[in-house]
Amino acid sequence: MEGRPITLSIDRIQTSAPPEAGNSVLQIWGRSPLHGHVRISGAKNAALVVLAGALLCPEHCRLRNVPSLVDVARMGQILSALGVKIQQNGDVWDIDASDISHSQAPYELVSQLRASFFAIGPLLARLGDVRIPLPGGCAIGARPVDLHVRGLQAMGADVQIHHGVVHASIPGVDRRLKGACIYLDYPSVGATETLMMAATLADGETRIENAAQEPEVVDLANFCRSMGAKIQGAGTKTIIISGVRRLHETDYSIVPDRIEAGTFLVAGAIAHSEISMSPVVPDHLGATIAKLRDIGSRVVRESHDCLRIIPGENRATDIETLPYPGFPTDMQAQFMALLTVSEGNSTISETVFENRLRHVAELQRMGADIRLKGNIAVIRGVPFLSGAPVMATDLRASAALVLAALAADGMTTIQGLQHLDRGYENLTEKMQKLGAKLERVPVEVNAQPEAESSASALK
Ligand code: EPZ
Repeated sequence: MEGRPITLSIDRIQTSAPPEAGNSVLQIWGRSPLHGHVRISGAKNAALVVLAGALLCPEHCRLRNVPSLVDVARMGQILSALGVKIQQNGDVWDIDASDISHSQAPYELVSQLRASFFAIGPLLARLGDVRIPLPGGCAIGARPVDLHVRGLQAMGADVQIHHGVVHASIPGVDRRLKGACIYLDYPSVGATETLMMAATLADGETRIENAAQEPEVVDLANFCRSMGAKIQGAGTKTIIISGVRRLHETDYSIVPDRIEAGTFLVAGAIAHSEISMSPVVPDHLGATIAKLRDIGSRVVRESHDCLRIIPGENRATDIETLPYPGFPTDMQAQFMALLTVSEGNSTISETVFENRLRHVAELQRMGADIRLKGNIAVIRGVPFLSGAPVMATDLRASAALVLAALAADGMTTIQGLQHLDRGYENLTEKMQKLGAKLERVPVEVNAQPEAESSASALK
């Protein structure tokens, strides 16, 4: 164990999304066809956890295909605040976590970036003691971390939560976690990833039962294995990790973003346009492609890593979000936008997060016919939506509003672009390259655009 407890403690350092995010809006003129090919970036939800995983390695790590996103930049700032040395050259990050110094990560970053909690497993495994603020909830739900905590406790950690800070430490002289058999009450992606990372350096074997099977979990496992970790079963419900003393350097490329790819597939369907995209891993999009086929599109493989969508007449279907390989909750809002203009009655049941239907009100402002019954949305397709001023409420809701605007009659103005910048790299430029009519325009900071006042009045 390398000693010195690490504290990500509470600093009131102001940080925020890029200044232009809050002071600009996206103007989209709908019903223009799309064409061409779009490049898919590295996966946000793989990059964030792999960056945290680099804390496990006392040597140099080179990460490739790292997407340029606000959340990824924030994770980099948090690692830097911990003493990690990072050299970024485009989408290649060179990371040296050999000397994690005792430092203070900006609390505003940690509290704003839930994914910063991923640091708890690696820091605990390497240093034997860590304090990290409890990640708050967010727009889509309370986002508890009880499964992370209980798993670490099963591995021998003493975990206390006081005043919003999680303090985890390993008692005993060797200060090394012990392998354990852990059953997750829910196949939580984050808990699976936290416990898998912690187990790579534990003494003995850890079995994670009812583990999450998401591709990002597999990408993390492959990253850890490239550093010498002994992990079997990632991508199945049972993951077995045999702890080792030390990991070694690696050069690893992040998997393409299946949610970005799915978002562009829906863009082709909603705009009745044939577009292609790469690189993608088609097997990661099984449920998404199956649902697009139900709705009336064809999705064809042009090569091992290239998909093309050939749209048809969009018709109603029913969707229930589930853990992978079920239909992904991160595609729910985007499909809702598509179903609002698909003929017939559809239902969407959001079973993963308790508050992930806030985009319904904004889609209704654009003329969508949606009725909510708890976590079930009943959608009656309308011939077309009408452009309107709308407000993004969370990351995937912002993407859904962009898609709805592509199909709407007239102009849509989208506010709340800080949500979009968290998870989509250069979305405006990528859409413009496909022929969409949209632009990002600055707004006066103290101006109250007509949209905002009428939107707030209507809420
Ligand atoms: C990851 O969040 C993703 N984020 C989310 O993507 C994604 O929606 C989610 O997995 C599900 O696929 C990242 O990877 C950074 P969970 P995570 O733990 O790990 C409950 C996006 O849009 N739960 O699988 O937080 C939890 O409340 C984001 O890119 C507990 O009860 O998801 C939720 O209801 C949004 N206790 C359910 O499990 C716990 O300890 C699924 O959460 C942990 C989770």
